[in-house]
Amino acid sequence: MTLEDYILAHSDEEGELLAALNRDAHVNILRPRMLSGHLQGRILKMFCRMLRPQRVLEIGTYTGYATLCLAEGMPEGSVIHTLEINDEMEDFIRKYIDQSPHREKIRLHIGDALELIPQLEETFDLVFIDADKRLYAEYYDLIFPKLRPGGVILADNTLWDGKVVEETPASDKQTLGILAFNEKIKQDERVEKVILPLRDGLTMIWKK
Ligand SMILES: C[S@@+](CC[C@H](N)C(=O)[O-])C[C@H]1O[C@@H](n2cnc3c(N)ncnc32)[C@H](O)[C@@H]1O
Repeated sequence: MTLEDYILAHSDEEGELLAALNRDAHVNILRPRMLSGHLQGRILKMFCRMLRPQRVLEIGTYTGYATLCLAEGMPEGSVIHTLEINDEMEDFIRKYIDQSPHREKIRLHIGDALELIPQLEETFDLVFIDADKRLYAEYYDLIFPKLRPGGVILADNTLWDGKVVEETPASDKQTLGILAFNEKIKQDERVEKVILPLRDGLTMIWKK
Protein backbone atom coordinates (compact mmCIF):
# COMPACT_ATOMS: atom_id res chain seq x y z
CA MET A 1 0.00 0.00 0.00
CA THR A 2 1.35 3.45 -0.90
CA LEU A 3 0.98 6.47 1.34
CA GLU A 4 -1.54 7.88 -1.14
CA ASP A 5 -3.60 4.65 -0.94
CA TYR A 6 -3.50 4.93 2.85
CA ILE A 7 -4.62 8.59 2.79
CA LEU A 8 -7.55 7.77 0.50
CA ALA A 9 -8.49 4.71 2.54
CA HIS A 10 -8.73 6.90 5.65
CA SER A 11 -10.52 9.86 4.05
CA ASP A 12 -14.11 10.14 2.85
CA GLU A 13 -15.00 8.23 -0.29
CA GLU A 14 -15.64 10.28 -3.43
CA GLY A 15 -19.03 8.65 -4.04
CA GLU A 16 -20.50 6.76 -6.99
CA LEU A 17 -21.21 9.71 -9.31
CA LEU A 18 -17.66 11.12 -9.07
CA ALA A 19 -16.13 7.66 -9.42
CA ALA A 20 -18.21 7.12 -12.58
CA LEU A 21 -17.17 10.55 -13.94
CA ASN A 22 -13.53 9.71 -13.23
CA ARG A 23 -13.78 6.36 -15.07
CA ASP A 24 -15.63 7.97 -17.99
CA ALA A 25 -12.96 10.70 -18.25
CA HIS A 26 -10.14 8.16 -18.26
CA VAL A 27 -11.78 6.20 -21.09
CA ASN A 28 -13.19 9.01 -23.22
CA ILE A 29 -11.49 12.35 -22.48
CA LEU A 30 -8.02 13.61 -23.32
CA ARG A 31 -5.69 14.44 -20.43
CA PRO A 32 -7.88 13.05 -17.59
CA ARG A 33 -5.09 13.85 -15.11
CA MET A 34 -6.25 17.48 -15.25
CA LEU A 35 -9.29 16.71 -13.11
CA SER A 36 -8.93 17.30 -9.38
CA GLY A 37 -9.45 13.68 -8.33
CA HIS A 38 -10.42 11.95 -5.11
CA LEU A 39 -8.15 13.63 -2.53
CA GLN A 40 -8.24 17.20 -3.83
CA GLY A 41 -11.97 16.84 -4.45
CA ARG A 42 -12.60 15.93 -0.81
CA ILE A 43 -10.42 18.88 0.25
CA LEU A 44 -12.42 21.30 -1.93
CA LYS A 45 -15.63 19.96 -0.42
CA MET A 46 -14.17 20.37 3.08
CA PHE A 47 -13.17 23.99 2.35
CA CYS A 48 -16.80 24.67 1.42
CA ARG A 49 -18.07 22.95 4.56
CA MET A 50 -15.80 25.21 6.65
CA LEU A 51 -16.21 28.48 4.75
CA ARG A 52 -19.92 28.08 3.96
CA PRO A 53 -19.63 30.27 0.83
CA GLN A 54 -22.81 31.66 -0.74
CA ARG A 55 -21.13 32.60 -4.03
CA VAL A 56 -18.33 30.55 -5.58
CA LEU A 57 -16.46 30.97 -8.88
CA GLU A 58 -14.49 28.22 -10.60
CA ILE A 59 -12.25 29.20 -13.52
CA GLY A 60 -11.67 26.06 -15.64
CA THR A 61 -14.42 23.42 -15.38
CA TYR A 62 -12.91 20.69 -17.60
CA THR A 63 -15.04 17.61 -16.68
CA GLY A 64 -16.90 19.25 -13.79
CA TYR A 65 -15.25 16.99 -11.19
CA ALA A 66 -14.19 19.85 -8.89
CA THR A 67 -17.43 21.73 -9.56
CA LEU A 68 -19.42 18.81 -8.18
CA CYS A 69 -17.12 18.54 -5.14
CA LEU A 70 -17.41 22.26 -4.36
CA ALA A 71 -21.20 22.19 -4.83
CA GLU A 72 -21.44 19.16 -2.54
CA GLY A 73 -19.92 21.12 0.35
CA MET A 74 -21.77 24.39 -0.29
CA PRO A 75 -24.84 25.35 1.75
CA GLU A 76 -28.38 25.13 0.40
CA GLY A 77 -29.31 28.18 -1.69
CA SER A 78 -25.72 28.98 -2.62
CA VAL A 79 -24.48 29.24 -6.22
CA ILE A 80 -21.30 28.24 -8.05
CA HIS A 81 -20.48 29.80 -11.41
CA THR A 82 -18.05 27.62 -13.38
CA LEU A 83 -16.32 28.81 -16.57
CA GLU A 84 -15.03 26.58 -19.38
CA ILE A 85 -13.59 27.75 -22.69
CA ASN A 86 -13.77 24.36 -24.48
CA ASP A 87 -17.30 23.91 -25.80
CA GLU A 88 -16.54 20.26 -26.66
CA MET A 89 -16.68 19.52 -22.91
CA GLU A 90 -20.20 20.85 -22.46
CA ASP A 91 -22.13 17.58 -23.06
CA PHE A 92 -19.82 15.64 -20.76
CA ILE A 93 -20.09 18.26 -18.00
CA ARG A 94 -23.89 18.55 -18.24
CA LYS A 95 -24.31 14.77 -18.21
CA TYR A 96 -22.83 14.65 -14.71
CA ILE A 97 -24.24 17.94 -13.37
CA ASP A 98 -27.71 16.70 -14.31
CA GLN A 99 -27.26 13.58 -12.18
CA SER A 100 -26.02 15.47 -9.12
CA PRO A 101 -28.34 16.21 -6.19
CA HIS A 102 -26.55 19.60 -6.05
CA ARG A 103 -27.31 20.58 -9.68
CA GLU A 104 -29.52 23.53 -8.63
CA LYS A 105 -26.44 25.29 -7.25
CA ILE A 106 -24.40 25.03 -10.48
CA ARG A 107 -24.29 27.59 -13.32
CA LEU A 108 -22.08 26.48 -16.23
CA HIS A 109 -20.80 29.19 -18.60
CA ILE A 110 -19.07 28.19 -21.83
CA GLY A 111 -16.59 30.84 -22.99
CA ASP A 112 -13.33 32.60 -22.21
CA ALA A 113 -12.99 33.48 -18.53
CA LEU A 114 -11.31 36.75 -19.49
CA GLU A 115 -14.56 37.80 -21.18
CA LEU A 116 -17.00 36.09 -18.81
CA ILE A 117 -15.66 37.32 -15.46
CA PRO A 118 -16.38 41.03 -16.15
CA GLN A 119 -19.97 40.04 -16.99
CA LEU A 120 -20.58 38.31 -13.64
CA GLU A 121 -22.37 40.69 -11.32
CA GLU A 122 -21.61 38.83 -8.10
CA THR A 123 -19.48 39.26 -5.01
CA PHE A 124 -17.65 36.00 -4.40
CA ASP A 125 -16.77 34.30 -1.11
CA LEU A 126 -14.55 31.67 -2.74
CA VAL A 127 -12.76 31.48 -6.10
CA PHE A 128 -10.98 28.40 -7.49
CA ILE A 129 -8.45 29.30 -10.21
CA ASP A 130 -7.67 26.25 -12.35
CA ALA A 131 -7.52 27.25 -16.04
CA ASP A 132 -4.74 28.44 -18.38
CA LYS A 133 -1.50 28.65 -16.37
CA ARG A 134 -0.24 31.50 -18.59
CA LEU A 135 -3.18 33.67 -17.50
CA TYR A 136 -3.30 33.15 -13.71
CA ALA A 137 -2.16 36.73 -12.98
CA GLU A 138 -4.83 38.12 -15.32
CA TYR A 139 -7.58 36.01 -13.75
CA TYR A 140 -6.42 37.25 -10.35
CA ASP A 141 -6.63 40.93 -11.34
CA LEU A 142 -10.11 40.41 -12.78
CA ILE A 143 -11.57 38.57 -9.81
CA PHE A 144 -9.92 40.53 -7.01
CA PRO A 145 -12.45 43.43 -7.01
CA LYS A 146 -15.27 40.86 -7.03
CA LEU A 147 -13.94 38.99 -3.99
CA ARG A 148 -15.32 40.16 -0.65
CA PRO A 149 -12.91 41.07 2.18
CA GLY A 150 -12.39 37.82 4.10
CA GLY A 151 -12.97 35.88 0.88
CA VAL A 152 -10.64 33.10 -0.24
CA ILE A 153 -8.93 32.26 -3.53
CA LEU A 154 -7.59 28.76 -4.13
CA ALA A 155 -5.15 28.52 -7.04
CA ASP A 156 -4.27 25.05 -8.34
CA ASN A 157 -0.99 23.75 -9.82
CA THR A 158 1.16 26.49 -8.28
CA LEU A 159 4.14 24.12 -7.90
CA TRP A 160 3.68 22.93 -11.51
CA ASP A 161 5.28 19.51 -11.15
CA GLY A 162 8.26 21.04 -9.31
CA LYS A 163 9.20 23.16 -12.33
CA VAL A 164 9.00 26.33 -10.21
CA VAL A 165 12.40 25.50 -8.69
CA GLU A 166 14.08 24.44 -11.94
CA GLU A 167 15.63 26.57 -14.65
CA THR A 168 12.84 27.69 -16.98
CA PRO A 169 13.36 27.87 -20.76
CA ALA A 170 11.96 31.09 -22.28
CA SER A 171 9.67 28.90 -24.42
CA ASP A 172 7.92 27.37 -21.39
CA LYS A 173 5.13 29.93 -21.08
CA GLN A 174 3.08 27.88 -18.62
CA THR A 175 5.87 27.65 -16.05
CA LEU A 176 6.65 31.34 -16.58
CA GLY A 177 2.96 32.11 -15.98
CA ILE A 178 2.92 30.19 -12.71
CA LEU A 179 6.21 31.82 -11.58
CA ALA A 180 4.82 35.30 -12.33
CA PHE A 181 1.60 34.49 -10.47
CA ASN A 182 3.43 33.14 -7.40
CA GLU A 183 5.64 36.24 -7.31
CA LYS A 184 2.65 38.56 -7.70
CA ILE A 185 0.84 36.89 -4.79
CA LYS A 186 3.96 37.01 -2.62
CA GLN A 187 4.25 40.78 -3.18
CA ASP A 188 0.53 41.52 -2.72
CA GLU A 189 0.06 43.04 0.74
CA ARG A 190 -3.73 43.01 0.38
CA VAL A 191 -3.72 39.26 1.03
CA GLU A 192 -2.36 36.55 3.32
CA LYS A 193 -1.14 33.44 1.50
CA VAL A 194 0.31 29.97 1.89
CA ILE A 195 1.18 27.29 -0.65
CA LEU A 196 -0.03 23.84 0.35
CA PRO A 197 2.25 21.12 -1.07
CA LEU A 198 -0.84 19.12 -2.02
CA ARG A 199 -0.71 17.22 -5.30
CA ASP A 200 0.60 19.86 -7.76
CA GLY A 201 0.53 22.75 -5.26
CA LEU A 202 -2.57 24.57 -4.03
CA THR A 203 -2.17 28.21 -2.96
CA MET A 204 -4.61 29.50 -0.35
CA ILE A 205 -5.10 33.28 -0.49
CA TRP A 206 -7.16 35.25 2.04
CA LYS A 207 -8.25 38.81 1.24
CA LYS A 208 -7.81 41.23 4.14
C1 LIG B 1 -7.01 21.78 -15.14
S1 LIG B 1 -8.49 21.86 -16.05
C2 LIG B 1 -9.72 22.19 -14.83
C3 LIG B 1 -9.94 21.03 -13.88
C4 LIG B 1 -11.10 21.18 -12.94
N1 LIG B 1 -11.12 22.49 -12.28
C5 LIG B 1 -11.01 20.11 -11.88
O1 LIG B 1 -10.34 20.34 -10.88
O2 LIG B 1 -11.57 19.02 -12.05
C6 LIG B 1 -8.34 23.42 -16.88
C7 LIG B 1 -9.53 23.80 -17.77
O3 LIG B 1 -9.48 25.20 -18.01
C8 LIG B 1 -10.00 25.47 -19.29
N2 LIG B 1 -9.54 26.81 -19.71
C9 LIG B 1 -8.32 27.19 -20.16
N3 LIG B 1 -8.30 28.51 -20.43
C10 LIG B 1 -9.53 28.98 -20.12
C11 LIG B 1 -10.13 30.28 -20.18
N4 LIG B 1 -9.43 31.35 -20.58
N5 LIG B 1 -11.43 30.41 -19.80
C12 LIG B 1 -12.13 29.34 -19.37
N6 LIG B 1 -11.61 28.07 -19.28
C13 LIG B 1 -10.33 27.91 -19.66
C14 LIG B 1 -9.42 24.32 -20.13
O4 LIG B 1 -10.16 24.15 -21.33
C15 LIG B 1 -9.53 23.13 -19.15
O5 LIG B 1 -10.72 22.40 -19.35
